[in-house]
Amino acid sequence: MTIQWFPGHMTKARRQIQEKLKLIDVVIELVDARLPQSSRNPMIDEILQGKPRLIVLNKSDLADPAVTKQWIEFFKEEGHLAIAADASSGHGIKEIPLLAKELLKEKIEKQLAKGINPRAVRALIVGIPNVGKSTLINRLAGRSIAATGDRPGVTKGQQWIKVGTEMELLDTPGILWPKFEDQNVGYRLAVTGAIREEILNIEDVAFFGVKYLVKYYWEPFQERFDLKEQPTDFENPDEIVAVMEAVGRKRGCLVSGGRVDLEKASGILLRELRAGKLGRYSLEAPY
Ligand code: G4P
Repeated sequence: MTIQWFPGHMTKARRQIQEKLKLIDVVIELVDARLPQSSRNPMIDEILQGKPRLIVLNKSDLADPAVTKQWIEFFKEEGHLAIAADASSGHGIKEIPLLAKELLKEKIEKQLAKGINPRAVRALIVGIPNVGKSTLINRLAGRSIAATGDRPGVTKGQQWIKVGTEMELLDTPGILWPKFEDQNVGYRLAVTGAIREEILNIEDVAFFGVKYLVKYYWEPFQERFDLKEQPTDFENPDEIVAVMEAVGRKRGCLVSGGRVDLEKASGILLRELRAGKLGRYSLEAPY
């Protein structure tokens, strides 16, 4: 296993986020709905220091809806409000400001009782790279934020983006890092393309993905690659490799002697998987 978790990165990210916590009322924690646990930072509770938090399971258009539902329940049991969303199409986005306000209900009620008119809820989006933070910010803002900020000559300080009249969003998200202590976390991230597969062995990444998919999502897999029988022993590497070879043959990844080029087959398989060609899937379930 060659991927590493750099404590230096995390210390810096943590400091930057904690600076921003002083300015905001709620945190919107973005995770990937296909792997909600592996795509979050395990130290998140400690980092956020009790700030009210909404968990958004983004890219839910790519995840197994039944498993996403289980995750929402799971987070609820942990005491967090959670919602599934798809920042690309905008599905589930309208609810975010409403839920952010819901998190501050008690505070808002107290203010109203004292005759104070509550100001807009101030929020910060946090998450690991590639979970869709920029897409969500742009979607909530209704325009492209990064494009304006990146214009030469425009000095970019901390800016607030108005989301309707009830929420204001910090324009730069807080970036967290995943932790790969458990190597399965690294593999799940690599299967979805959240981390570059080159830092892992591509055949190992594909093997990990195939093993999970043939077990839980056999039908779309079988259909796409014209496979015959579902493996019976998922723990037997030979059975999984036989599936990968069948995929390779189907895609014409042959080398001299009729052997299958597993590296090439792995690359093709991962590309098709990420492009959604094998349908919706989740790589981990809470129960
Ligand atoms: P980040 O700021 O957290 O690093 O993530 P970013 O918004 O850049 O999104 C990373 C990739 O995920 C982008 O794809 C983006 O389009 C895609 N994405 C974000 N939200 C969703 C979602 O809800 N569903 C789906 N299916 N995809 C989502 P990309 O290939 O890197 O770029 P592009 O497709 O925008 O060209």
